[in-house]
Amino acid sequence: MEKMKPRILLVDDEEINLTLLAAKFERVGYEIEKATNGIEAVVKVKEFKPDIILMDVVMPQMDGYEALRVLKSREETSYIPVILVTGRSEVEDKVLGFEVGAEDYISKPYSLQEVVARVKSLLRMRALQTKLAETEKMAALGGMVDGIAHEVRNPLMAIGGMARRLKEHETDPQHKDYADRIISAVERLERMLRRVDEYKRMLVSTRASGDINNVLTVCAGDIKEFIDNQGKEIEVKVALMPEPPPINMDAGNMRVAIYNILQNSADAIEKKGVITIETLPAMDQSITLRITDTGCGIKEEDIRKIFNPFQTSKISGAGLGLTISYRIIRDHGGEIEVESRPGEGTVMTIRLHPAKIGSHLPHLGEPTA
Ligand SMILES: Nc1ncnc2c1ncn2[C@@H]1O[C@H](COP(=O)(O)OP(=O)(O)OP(=O)(O)O)[C@@H](O)[C@H]1O
Ligand SMILES: [Mg+2]
Repeated sequence: MEKMKPRILLVDDEEINLTLLAAKFERVGYEIEKATNGIEAVVKVKEFKPDIILMDVVMPQMDGYEALRVLKSREETSYIPVILVTGRSEVEDKVLGFEVGAEDYISKPYSLQEVVARVKSLLRMRALQTKLAETEKMAALGGMVDGIAHEVRNPLMAIGGMARRLKEHETDPQHKDYADRIISAVERLERMLRRVDEYKRMLVSTRASGDINNVLTVCAGDIKEFIDNQGKEIEVKVALMPEPPPINMDAGNMRVAIYNILQNSADAIEKKGVITIETLPAMDQSITLRITDTGCGIKEEDIRKIFNPFQTSKISGAGLGLTISYRIIRDHGGEIEVESRPGEGTVMTIRLHPAKIGSHLPHLGEPTA
């Protein structure tokens, strides 16, 4: 797609000025609209929707100040930056312009070069301000999600705890069943809260050179504990290549990415099975991590969807584990692939590129310039 041209509205009662300005701005890639007095300018702003207005002060019918006042008093046009062009260079005039809300002014006589430079710098500043406002909005939203997560945590623990106690003392199977349903709903929400934390942590990524084998060893320990807590009999096999090339990574985030994948493998195995964690060298200096399980597998038609947020087949799943893994791996310049056979198991393959990692891609959460 062609890049959007910035739009400028040129307002001047002298035809020759308009022609010169229009030719100049056209040459440097602007889309132009012209108006010869304030009234026309106010009308044209509506349909043309300029990014910026360059307006002469002294004009018949409605002068630049009056037009500026009208534009700034209307919500839908007040955000458009206006540069006033003043022939009278008295200080008061300029002050008046600023009071009415002009973003900048230029005195006549001006060089076209200077006009273009002023316009460009004002547009650049505007773009930065917009970006900052968006970033602030995102941060505010993040803060709100955070606040809600925090407020929800304690009541949730209370509900879960009480439901467990009710279940213990209950003899009526129907009531036991109700308690079970409360407990699993609470577990699902608790998983969701954990994912919110992971997501938040993922956004503040700090990289350092590290050994991927160390991350995998820690993850293997974590997943064994998870398996034990669930009372399953899953053998965790670890086969790591010696001295893998160092990787520029956020080790904490990488650990989350891999652990979430291992957790799915453990979830997929009902009682007995094997999970294998491997690192393999490749011809092109990349490292392959492979996580294989002998679990239930994924149906062909579901494979496309598993990385989508809230995609889950589990009663207490949040459906966010792989969404987070995927984003972290992608943020590190890596790729992830899935192969699966229902009833046989699943293989997740992650490729990381030591040389490339961190050099091309902006960190998540870091504003891209
Ligand atoms: N190794 C696997 N074997 C079988 N199914 C899998 C495997 N990995 C992922 N899936 C499927 O993909 C879905 C999405 O996984 P994801 O980790 O994103 O969410 P989840 O495990 O359901 O919930 P959570 O956010 O708590 O991790 C799972 O619900 C499951 O159906
Ligand atoms: Mg999961």
